[in-house]
Amino acid sequence: MPAIPLRPIGVFDSGLGGLTVVRQLRRLLPHEEILYLGDLAHLPYGTKSTDEIRRRSEECARFLLKKGTKALVIACNSASSVASKVLSEKLPIPVLNVITPAVEEALASTRNFRIGVIATYATIASGSYTKALQARCPEAEYFLEACPLFVPLAEEGWLEDAIAFGTARRYLGPMKKKNIDTLILGCTHYPLLEKVIGKVMGKKVRLIDSAVPTALKLKALLASHGILYPRPRRAALKIFVTDFVRNFLRIGESFLGERLKNAQLVEVA
Ligand code: DGL
Repeated sequence: MPAIPLRPIGVFDSGLGGLTVVRQLRRLLPHEEILYLGDLAHLPYGTKSTDEIRRRSEECARFLLKKGTKALVIACNSASSVASKVLSEKLPIPVLNVITPAVEEALASTRNFRIGVIATYATIASGSYTKALQARCPEAEYFLEACPLFVPLAEEGWLEDAIAFGTARRYLGPMKKKNIDTLILGCTHYPLLEKVIGKVMGKKVRLIDSAVPTALKLKALLASHGILYPRPRRAALKIFVTDFVRNFLRIGESFLGERLKNAQLVEVA
């Protein structure tokens, strides 16, 4: 096994949504090799029970750990919400979730201290965002809404058509009345629908995507552990999936923003 700084970063999500995070990791940490696991055979996580999401997350994490990863990014809010604590306790490597970076960015951005969060059922029900936001700023007001249909819309690539708009209008109608100035996209699939969400919410609402703050936090985390890759290079990205879905390449490439080469089908159980 190579020395720790030379090893890859492990990233997983239920599907292709986590590639929105990988896109920013590739931009901000170009020297780091990334192993991405999309658990497509078990998508969506967001409608599953806490126990099942934990079980799946642990299997994904162990698969990546066996491949020698030096740090793990849980690029899924549903898994971050219910499994990040257990994974941090059980794994011998640093573990980063996508919730803390999004929460910190939202609190730095708000001016009227009225913040919305949209996410999957599992994330909303876990209370992870409410807890993280209230712990840092109990004075602010928070409004949460589950938007489960955004996940299949993003995976299907229906990003800007009438169905995407209609769905966004229906989910976000109540949120629009709350006079928020900041809206957390609390699911790594939602940045793909940023245009429709932005149009429905209006220009005064800033949308928070966890990808950039997560990449910056990972950089700081690797530096603090002294395990940043030591030399400049354009590192490899390896993609593993537990199932090949229809339109995998087209959708995956739109999430990632680059060619998706050599995805490998794997069993993680
Ligand atoms: N992308 C995942 C998240 O951030 C969830 C999608 C799903 O429901 O599997 O929550």
